[in-house]
Amino acid sequence: MMYPLKRNRRLRTSEAIRSLVRETVITPNDFIVPLFVVEGKSIKEEIPSMPNYYRMSLDLLSKEAKELWAMGLKSVLLFVKVPDNLKDNSGTEALNPEGLMQRAIKTIKDAVPEMYVMTDVALDPYSSYGHDGVVGNGQIVNDDTNALLAEMSLSHARAGADMVAPSDMMDGRIFEIRTLLEDEGFHNTGILSYSAKYASAFYGPFRDALDSAPADIKDVPKDKKTYQMDFANRDEAVKETLMDIEEGADIVMVKPGLCYLDIVRDIRDAVDVPVAVYQVSGEYAMLKAAAAKGWLDHDAVMLEQVTAIKRAGAHMMASYFAKDVVKLLS
Ligand code: PBG
Repeated sequence: MMYPLKRNRRLRTSEAIRSLVRETVITPNDFIVPLFVVEGKSIKEEIPSMPNYYRMSLDLLSKEAKELWAMGLKSVLLFVKVPDNLKDNSGTEALNPEGLMQRAIKTIKDAVPEMYVMTDVALDPYSSYGHDGVVGNGQIVNDDTNALLAEMSLSHARAGADMVAPSDMMDGRIFEIRTLLEDEGFHNTGILSYSAKYASAFYGPFRDALDSAPADIKDVPKDKKTYQMDFANRDEAVKETLMDIEEGADIVMVKPGLCYLDIVRDIRDAVDVPVAVYQVSGEYAMLKAAAAKGWLDHDAVMLEQVTAIKRAGAHMMASYFAKDVVKLLS
């Protein structure tokens, strides 16, 4: 049918009709809130490259969890900043039952028992080399790393984590983690796999937050390109993701967000599990910086971005904007 019988602008004439035909609506249920945890007491330190985002000690983490729950934000993704003296090549501290991550999980569960607690699983915050896996002969050793990631996941499950989120991109780690969790009776512990994670320069501010950037050491790779994906590739993301689902992932994830929305749609069309997106630290930093200069309208661009991520096919997103968005909506 043709103009003037069809005029598409009729459905845009007022906010009332626009909201009636709107295809994508953002709610607090769309968000997973990343949280950065540090040792100490009463510590809330702003991350310089992530304005208005903080590292928190356990006492304040518990307050934060209550505040998030009251806002309708019901799931968190935990990251820890590990002191240098506890770092080594195999991330030994990651398996400490009294480690910071394990205590952080318990702290949140004590504060808000219903909060859904997800944990980052990768060696980089614990690694003296800043790599997600064990370094040997100038390489990141895949299978040795998998065994550690499985033990790490089990340790998080024992501490009370609801879901583990391996962010390392080793081959076969989902299978190793799933097998160990099943063997140990953790049948309901979920796995959110960072299944299509790209080697991206957008992770810079996050590595500042955790002091986890790959170290500049002789004979050690200075970047993560031998395990994280090449950002030029699209078909490979679907292959990676289908393999992780076969190995036992409950939710799959694309990371970063905005530059990768083609990948999000490909994966959404190809899989039968929920799809998550990680809107990463660099994406957050860019908008904060442009808004601080008065060059962009922070709230409007933020809402446009998270809506675009959901429209592309994300069922949920990990985003540093979660609280800002919920405040804006309410
Ligand atoms: C580490 C990890 C990274 C992020 C989440 N988990 C950084 C990296 O891979 O170097 C990035 C998150 C962000 O930038 O917000 N395994």
